[in-house]
Amino acid sequence: MSEPLGDMRRTHHCCELGLKNVGDEVMLMGWVQRRRDHGGVIFIDLRDRNGITQVVFNPEHDQQVHEKAHVIRSEYVLGVKGIVEKRPDGMTNPDLATGAIEVMVNELKILNEAQTPPFLIEDDIEVSESIRLRHRHIDLRRPKIQHNIITRHRASAAIRNYMNKNGFLDIETPVLTKSTPEGARDYLVPSRVNQGMFYALPQSPQLFKQLLMISGFDRYYQIVRCFRDEDLRADRQPEFTQVDMEMSFVGEEEVMTVAEGMVGAVFKEVIDVDLALPFKRMTYREAIDRFGIDRPDMRFGLELKNISDIVENSGFQVFANVVKKGGIVKALNAKGCENFSRKEIDDLTKFVSVYRAKGLAWIKIRENEWQSPITKFFTEEEKQKMADRLNMEAGDLVFFVADQPKIVNESLGYLRNHLGEKLGLINSDEFNFLWVTHFPMFEYDETEKRYQALHHPFTSPLESDYDKLETDPLAVNSRAYDMVLNGSEIGGGSIRIHQKDLQIKILKTLGMKKEEYNSKFGFLISALDSGAPPHGGLAFGLDRLMTILCGGDSIREVIPFPKTQKGSCLMTDAPSPASREQLMELGIKVDLE
Ligand code: AMO
Ligand code: AMP
Repeated sequence: MSEPLGDMRRTHHCCELGLKNVGDEVMLMGWVQRRRDHGGVIFIDLRDRNGITQVVFNPEHDQQVHEKAHVIRSEYVLGVKGIVEKRPDGMTNPDLATGAIEVMVNELKILNEAQTPPFLIEDDIEVSESIRLRHRHIDLRRPKIQHNIITRHRASAAIRNYMNKNGFLDIETPVLTKSTPEGARDYLVPSRVNQGMFYALPQSPQLFKQLLMISGFDRYYQIVRCFRDEDLRADRQPEFTQVDMEMSFVGEEEVMTVAEGMVGAVFKEVIDVDLALPFKRMTYREAIDRFGIDRPDMRFGLELKNISDIVENSGFQVFANVVKKGGIVKALNAKGCENFSRKEIDDLTKFVSVYRAKGLAWIKIRENEWQSPITKFFTEEEKQKMADRLNMEAGDLVFFVADQPKIVNESLGYLRNHLGEKLGLINSDEFNFLWVTHFPMFEYDETEKRYQALHHPFTSPLESDYDKLETDPLAVNSRAYDMVLNGSEIGGGSIRIHQKDLQIKILKTLGMKKEEYNSKFGFLISALDSGAPPHGGLAFGLDRLMTILCGGDSIREVIPFPKTQKGSCLMTDAPSPASREQLMELGIKVDLE
């Protein structure tokens, strides 16, 4: 059964009515959250975007309407007309904004029926994420996700407001474009009119925003979708949203100030939190040295200490040999964890092996002795130095990893995060911001045997390091910065190269020959030669920022229609095969053998 809306129009939303409305005739529209039949009287919780109102079908009030209400089930769509009444004493619901009243119905329209939903429309229900994503339109009715999506809208509005006030122009950039390298694979789109040719979806609007600076727009921003075909992790999506910005005639300070101001405005307007500005800063090298990773969670301690100098001549061959071969030994003091069981330590050893650590040595500090398979290899002097550097006290458990720096830092860095959680050291109400600056310009890709840009190839090196570009590329620092919040990289940017010759030099360092850089980036190179101002900018990952703002742990909770870890949309079944005709038109033959 489905009745026409006719001329019935709502007078109020489902959150609005209170004692002030008692006696008024109102019309409400919404979904049936819950239906209870109490000895002849039917109570329905009617839900819309804004809240819930209890509506009542009482045979003593209106026999016919009560009769009709019998067919109503969960998620039916109703229009009701009735009189607002104060709930009888003892029947009020203090948890509900409208809990002091109810609406006695005298006209009912069943605007649509609904199949029984595959799960209850409530938070904290036990249902697999795949079922929720398959029925996402229903999942999106849950209060928590409704709240997240509305919060996201409010954040976008606060962002636009802030950027507009600060002289930024909202300018759109193409989606069908050429590759913009940000370290992931491109999504390609075949061209029908140019068979055998492909557009790439943008990994970011990086080159377009630089071109806009060259065109003289001075300050640009865009809340924009980006596409990256990469291995998906919990905080990544194949299509995600950036708050992208670029400014002319600026250095790091101006970009960082605008970015901090924007985040400050969002936190104030959306959750009424005053952030302490400016944020702390740390160089990339210090972050790696103290925390093992370039986005340290600063809400707790457990810092790493390099003890290579203490153990390089020790009797413990594993450590001594690693240092002799150019590796390092670092340690982390898990304060008060001396009571960890053998199994717990074995589990942590397995945990670090994921990051390629070959072992996890440990020492338990007891009142009068150190308990460990490795203590016997160290002299009293070495032990004393270790104890001083690591502040080792009775009750502590110290972990060690010896290997190449990358493996040591990564494994202990992730171990630190893991222990922070396991030991309950993290205050989940805290918002701890940090700028990480002075990233290295390049890293060496062992598989491809060439240098890669750590940020992207349009980032400017530090001027004082120009002379090392040819002699020692790995020692060149860049003018890149990342904004880190609670251990999550929520934004990143840099001051750009605006000189043609320097840009060519960087592309050459990345192993590109003239033909290659001209075919890939010729348009940029010639633009740099047409009067390019000094410029720089940054992009925030809006989805990551929202995940933290909404207090969730999955990026999928703040995206209306997210994709799974395998990049598919369970609701629409995308991606799906193309028809033979479509492929023929595109001149594409699919060969899956
Ligand atoms: P970057 O590659 O650091 O910089 O991206 C900016 C921010 O976008 C977020 N992010 C993602 N979020 C969800 N899913 C993903 N797959 C994903 N990848 C990145 C992160 C990241 O900090 N053009 C440069 C910015 C610039 O230099 O101005 C860029 O794209 O939060
Ligand atoms: P072994 O001498 O192999 O029995 O190792 C003694 C202890 O050192 C064990 O607890 C191993 O987990 C640990 N260990 C072995 N290799 C390393 C390494 N590269 N870094 C840290 N600990 C290690």
